[in-house]
Amino acid sequence: MASLSTPKGPFLISGGAGYIGSHAAQFLMDQGVETITLDDLSAGHRDAVRGEFVETDLADRGAIADALERYRPVAAMHFAGKCYVGESVSKPELYYRGNVVNSLNLLEELQRAGVRDFVFSSTCATYGEPAVVPIPDDAPVAPITPYGQTKLDVEHLLASFNRAHGMRYACLRYFNAAGAAPDGTLGEVHLPETHLIPLVLEVAMGQQDGLKIFGQDYPTPDGTCVRDYIHVCDLATAHLSALALLQGGEESLTCNLGTGHGFSVMEIVEAAREVTGHPIPVTVVDAREGDPAFLVSGGTRAASVLGWAPQRSDLRTILEDAWRFKQAHPDGYPGS
Ligand code: UFG
Repeated sequence: MASLSTPKGPFLISGGAGYIGSHAAQFLMDQGVETITLDDLSAGHRDAVRGEFVETDLADRGAIADALERYRPVAAMHFAGKCYVGESVSKPELYYRGNVVNSLNLLEELQRAGVRDFVFSSTCATYGEPAVVPIPDDAPVAPITPYGQTKLDVEHLLASFNRAHGMRYACLRYFNAAGAAPDGTLGEVHLPETHLIPLVLEVAMGQQDGLKIFGQDYPTPDGTCVRDYIHVCDLATAHLSALALLQGGEESLTCNLGTGHGFSVMEIVEAAREVTGHPIPVTVVDAREGDPAFLVSGGTRAASVLGWAPQRSDLRTILEDAWRFKQAHPDGYPGS
């Protein structure tokens, strides 16, 4: 592992008003690094932005160029993009435009401005239905949805920009991002919400009558899907370490970000009952199309290359942090 010094900013953060981007921006600011968020607020929230803010869509290359000229960031973290697996199947054009075309726009403008270090929000959805679980960092990629495919396309774009233009990159393949800032100020708010933990907490709050469990016939111990839940603050620290690595002149990197431990949907519900003290009724409905049974990281690269280890990703801490945010923001951010 290289010895990593604190990265120097300012950093451009695309999608910094969204769930993971806002936590990363907060973490960078806590380390004394300046941030400039670019976000069109189509899915993000103005109240979640930390640091400087430019409201723009990445389709607008002129606005990207202006922001680069004005703030002169030295590196970029790219969180902006469309993130609903199911929607990507029914409306692939939104995903190719929002994830691939917009990423290309950003990359071209960065390259033109001489910004060479880039951290990309990738996903375990690039692996599709993995043949081996836990999934190693070098497992074959075979996405089964346009969401996973478009994220993989951007990984390929980065490799091409690396060869052609010397762009250095880290592709961080997240497993299931979860949790919230420990002080309850930032958390997960999607409209519509489709993710398991926020939905479970809506039921705990009495905002929904019950949770629908998508399928109970999977080849898992209790029949419900198993996922690797990684705390959003642990994702943020990995981004900073990745930038430190790139700024230190190390090679580009692609790696998994997960804990290596999986929890079933039923285990999440049971843990949430304990943390919230609410009963959380469930009903079992048909399986959701495209949901693999087991997605757990078997990657070791983030530890060996970045020196990264999750600090807040035990399930109880994830749920306690998410519940604190939910109680402070029952209806999301004020402007949501
Ligand atoms: N689930 C339910 N009921 C719900 C919602 C979810 O049973 O109401 C189940 C799902 O079937 C799945 C698990 O809870 O087994 C987690 O579902 P999420 O929607 O929270 O997360 P996903 O695993 O579907 O998706 C996440 C990220 C994606 C990423 C994907 C990789 O949100 O961005 O992992 O497969 F691409």
